[in-house]
Amino acid sequence: MALLNILCYPDPRLHTVATPVKEIVNETLTLIENMIETMYESNGIGLAATQVDVHQRIIVLDVSDERNSPMVLINPEIIWTHPDRVKGEEGCLSVPNTYDGVERSIEVKVKAMGKAGELQEIHAKELLAVCIQHEMDHLLGKVFVDYLSPLKRNRIKTKMLKLQRENSH
Ligand code: NI
Repeated sequence: MALLNILCYPDPRLHTVATPVKEIVNETLTLIENMIETMYESNGIGLAATQVDVHQRIIVLDVSDERNSPMVLINPEIIWTHPDRVKGEEGCLSVPNTYDGVERSIEVKVKAMGKAGELQEIHAKELLAVCIQHEMDHLLGKVFVDYLSPLKRNRIKTKMLKLQRENSH
């Protein structure tokens, strides 16, 4: 297993639209293992392949307190969304130390393949519902800060670029 490099906002590669996985091959399974390890190592609750610069429709999640129940969603599709939406604080491994309010559906039903290619249907509520919507946005090239006002977004962009300059020295 290996830790993967996570792209940081405003890296333009985060805006790439991922393509569906056609076939689950050994490389796909290695990628998934590495994504799970990277998510745990970074204390994240979700990670999309887009964030590690692989533009395939794969996300991994774990919203459990014990951090021992990783979920793998390949080619996820939202098949139902609850009409009620609520605004909650979100953060992202690609936008470190930045949190802001984003409105999401309170429940979603998702259809996806697991890593053995099995079809799964998940009725997600609360944190899992938010996390799935957030990660699925990444697969469409969307980062949560894209929902914020241009003013806030620019402030975050400036802060991130400054941090990245400092870290590269
Ligand atoms: Ni994210």
